[in-house]
Amino acid sequence: MNAVIEAEHLRKTFGELVAVDDLSFSVGPGECFGILGPNGAGKTSTIRMVYAFSPLSSGELRVFGLDIARQARAIKSRIGVCQQENNIDPDLSVLQNLEVFARYFNLSAAEATRRSRELLRFMALDHRETARAQELSGGMIRRLVMARALLNRPELLILDEPTTGLDPQSRHQVWERLEELRAEGLSILLTTHYMDEASRLCDRLIIMDRGRLLVEGMPADLVRRHVGRDVIEVADPPEGLPAFLQGRGTVFESLGHRLIIAIEDGRDLYREIGERFCGSGGCVMRTATLEDVFLRLTGRDLRE
Ligand SMILES: Nc1ncnc2c1ncn2[C@@H]1O[C@H](COP(=O)(O)OP(=O)(O)OP(=O)(O)O)[C@@H](O)[C@H]1O
Ligand SMILES: [Mg+2]
Repeated sequence: MNAVIEAEHLRKTFGELVAVDDLSFSVGPGECFGILGPNGAGKTSTIRMVYAFSPLSSGELRVFGLDIARQARAIKSRIGVCQQENNIDPDLSVLQNLEVFARYFNLSAAEATRRSRELLRFMALDHRETARAQELSGGMIRRLVMARALLNRPELLILDEPTTGLDPQSRHQVWERLEELRAEGLSILLTTHYMDEASRLCDRLIIMDRGRLLVEGMPADLVRRHVGRDVIEVADPPEGLPAFLQGRGTVFESLGHRLIIAIEDGRDLYREIGERFCGSGGCVMRTATLEDVFLRLTGRDLRE
């Protein structure tokens, strides 16, 4: 089947600044695809090109097999977008926010209201239909923006940080709705800073940094390939530990007050560290996660 998104050598510059640099990826039908990266990595710049909001500086981009430069209108009508910033009308009611937006899609007034109500139910907002949007909590506003992105029954849903700032209840609510939508065959492109979100939702993802692609793959494969299975963390590592690890050829990362060892099978080492080195600070062994991959590839330095 044809790819929903085919991006080849995408580049986006703002004056001297290269926000997206030679980025290639493709998203298949029904796939949930994630773009991960530190602040300023170029995630938003990338997806803005995909929903034809911002022109490419160079490269090629096809969505639904159509060229973004020449067929932007046709592409936009088949996409739903949740931008990073919530851009609702605070003075309109919850329902009106959807009805007004529905006008862009040539729905009759009756159909617009029917569809809006259906989506408010879907996003668990029907009980607030008459409230003014400015009275909603952050989680509710995010769900309203998602409902709005679904008005035109898109084939591709694009979400820029769908759950940033939401409480655990709202995040799980959003995840479940997205899983339902994916089960119905919707293709999804999302960005997130939450590695648990990416692991749960994304079939495949890329990690980018400073505009460039670092890796692409399925979440579990990336963890296996770049970190391994186990991670041992030692708090306030005793003095002899680094030398001991170096002596047995074990690679580790030292953060000063914390020492981190990524290892395929950590059971024996964990036992030995526990017996010989784990004093007051304590040590734990846990399963490696996408967050370990992310930090390993993008480093621990702050970006902004
Ligand atoms: N309209 C613009 N004009 C100038 N520079 C921009 C513009 N939009 C983005 N940039 C710059 O491009 C780079 C990438 O920004 P972008 O918003 O794509 O990053 P991001 O990965 O979405 O970051 P975040 O995780 O913080 O949302 C940054 O250095 C940013 O300052
Ligand atoms: Mg962004």
